[in-house]
This record gives sequence, C-alpha cells and structure tokens, in this order.
Amino acid sequence: MDQQGLDGRIAIVTGGGAGIGAASAMALAQAGATVVINHRPRDSSREAAEKQVAAIAEQGGSAVAMPADVSDEAQIETLFAQTIERFGKLDILVNNAGIEKPADFDQMTLADWNAVMDVNLTGQFLCARAAVRHFKTRKPDNGDVRAVGNIVFISSVHEVIPWAFQTNYAASKGGVMLLMKSLAQEVAPYKIRVNSIAPGAIRTKINKEAWDSKEKLAELVKLIPYGRIGEPEDVGRAVRWLASDDSDYVTGTTLFVDGGMTLYPGFRGAG
Ligand code: BGC
Repeated sequence: MDQQGLDGRIAIVTGGGAGIGAASAMALAQAGATVVINHRPRDSSREAAEKQVAAIAEQGGSAVAMPADVSDEAQIETLFAQTIERFGKLDILVNNAGIEKPADFDQMTLADWNAVMDVNLTGQFLCARAAVRHFKTRKPDNGDVRAVGNIVFISSVHEVIPWAFQTNYAASKGGVMLLMKSLAQEVAPYKIRVNSIAPGAIRTKINKEAWDSKEKLAELVKLIPYGRIGEPEDVGRAVRWLASDDSDYVTGTTLFVDGGMTLYPGFRGAG
C-alpha cells in the first residue's frame, strides 16, 4: 500500500499556481488528494493556477482553482466556505503564499513592511484559523489513528537565518515559526497536526535573480553544502510526507529542506 496515499483527502494550497505551491499541489494530487489551488485574484495568477489544474488533470489527478487574497479576511472565509461546501470537508492546508519586498532598512517603506507581513504572516494566520475552525468540528474517523486535520506552513530558512535587506521577510518568517509552534501546542489535543517546512534556495521566480546566470548560481551554491539549488519538487515531496499519515506523530516541527543551508557552511574546516 502507498503509505503516503491521500485518496479522498481534500487539500487547499495557497499560492498554488507557481513555484513551491504548484509543486506541492502536484505532489498531493499524485498521492490522491483533491487539491484546491488558491491564487491571487488577478489574471496572470488565475492563468497560472488554471495551467496547474490542467497539468494535474493530465496526470489523472483532481484539482480546481479558486481565487482569494490570503491577507483579506472576507476572501479567505469565502475560500474555505466554498471548499467545504463543494467537497464536504477539508483535511489539509498548505499555507504557502508568500512574497518578498527587499529594501535597505532605512529606505524600507511602511507599505513594503506591511505588504510582506500581510501576506506572509497575517495571511498564514487567517488561513490557519479558517482551517482550525473546520477541523475542530471533525471527530477522528479512524479510531485514534490519524489526525482530523493537518496544516503545513511554508516558512523559510530565514525563520532562523538573519537576512540583511530582507528584514521584513525574515521577521515574517520568524513570526511564522512561533505561530506554527504555538498553534501546534494549542490544537494537538484536538488531533490537529501543525508543522512547517523551511525551504532553502529553491529554483522559483521569487529568487530568480540569485540563480539565473552561471556566476550567480555558483555564488549561491557556496551557501549550500549539498552542492545544488533546490527544486520545487524537493519541497513538494516533503509537503506530501508531512500531510500524510506517515508523519502522524510529527507536530510542532520545522523540517528544513535546504541542502544544509542552515548548517553554517562557512565553518566547514574553519572557525
Ligand atoms: C527566499 C529565497 C532565498 C532563500 C534562501 C527563501 O525563503 O524566498 O529568495 O533564495 O530563502 O536564502
């Protein structure tokens, strides 16, 4: 039996049209879940999400696209209500949507600060709250064997690695770390599991500048002991595991998927 079988499970992946979100949606669908691919309510994001829905369908999987700005309370309420109305329940939330707005600290505008906090931290709060409200109405349906609901936050190595010129981003991810752990502690007795994945440098649009030339990629790889940039699928497989019953005894944990980026690579043979 495929232990990571997610047949019959319903998942929402925020920001699921591209990058890590798209790979997570694909990995969950390949394991049998029906995936709601949430996207920003604008044309280019909708098109990307619909493309991913089609890619999943091509592989025999099941997915739909649904718009909502994760930082908008009313839109998130609607996203979750529509999902539960359409599919009867929700089992998995992958809290993925995230943005970067780098700036020198003294030049950072309040708008840049707020935009990152609104999506990366408040957005994760709003989605997790909507999921927990639903999960708390559910009873364990398989004896004591598995969770009634599962939340996977997509954090970052920057929940622990300070990041100059991205103080807003690092602060948001540091916030995600204790949001995740505090929530995990609070809802474990309800058999709700809550974990994070902290990706390192993954080849997506958000950090294209860091890998789109040979020279830049070589610089980046110096920070990665494992010697390669990560691919969205590296994270997708980890999401699938954390969302599955295989990881049933895991809660309140951050799983670093970073090729060793958090291992202080500068200390190898030094210090
Ligand atoms: C950021 C990327 C960055 C990576 C490693 C991620 O959280 O979104 O832009 O390359 O961390 O620094």
